Amino acid sequence: MPDNTWDTDLYEQKHAFVSEFGKGLVALLDPQAGERILDLGCGTGHLASEIAERGAHVVGIDSSPAMIEAAREAYPNLAFQVMDAQNFSFTEPFDAIFSNAALHWINEPENVVQCIATALKPGGRLVAEFGGKGNVTTILTAAQEAIEEIEGDWVESGWYFPSIGEYASLLEKNGIEARSALLYDRPTRLEDGEQGLRNWLRMFGERLFEDLDDDIKERVLEQVEERTHPKLFKDGYWFADYRRIRLVAHKIG
Ligand code: BEZ
Repeated sequence: MPDNTWDTDLYEQKHAFVSEFGKGLVALLDPQAGERILDLGCGTGHLASEIAERGAHVVGIDSSPAMIEAAREAYPNLAFQVMDAQNFSFTEPFDAIFSNAALHWINEPENVVQCIATALKPGGRLVAEFGGKGNVTTILTAAQEAIEEIEGDWVESGWYFPSIGEYASLLEKNGIEARSALLYDRPTRLEDGEQGLRNWLRMFGERLFEDLDDDIKERVLEQVEERTHPKLFKDGYWFADYRRIRLVAHKIG
């Protein structure tokens, strides 16, 4: 995640759609009473709380101390820990690992999948949704081209948006079998009308802009808006061109 320094207020106020959309993923997880479930990249803990309401024992982990602090404040009876998705372990294995809108932040996913495989019981399930191949391409390409034109540098996003085949192979190498996977377009309406795309880029795209002076960043934002407007602005709102992978996979054994 971006430097682990999330503005949790901005996240809650303007980007609540992240956990709203995640509710459908909880339904797919179908948590059972008494199950031990890990929420990987739990953010502010709303979905961990939904899972706990079904009677499961949930542990939420996130690499952002600010997110974990907000989660503990909102749900003091649940267990949350600051942990890196690339380097986590627990003494007791999980019946299921759940992850919504988190796995695309780590562009070296091998360690993540190894940790998932170790943390699951044999037969345990992974239910995850994250950015898939082609995710936010219109926004990302516009930002990269604008930065290249203004600064002369091509910046990498650092995000990880695999195809189904790529991710299923990685899981298989680690003893986890994909049982179902879907790659689907989910254009997502951003809050705040005209300001929506800027807010989104400020919240999630900081990695692209971290080396830019404020005035250059402003010019880049203007250019991104100009370039993407015909495709992404409709009826007074910006729509991010999200494309998700949603999958269910089981640890072999
Ligand atoms: C996503 O949820 O797809 C996403 C969020 C922030 C940056 C990139 C992708």
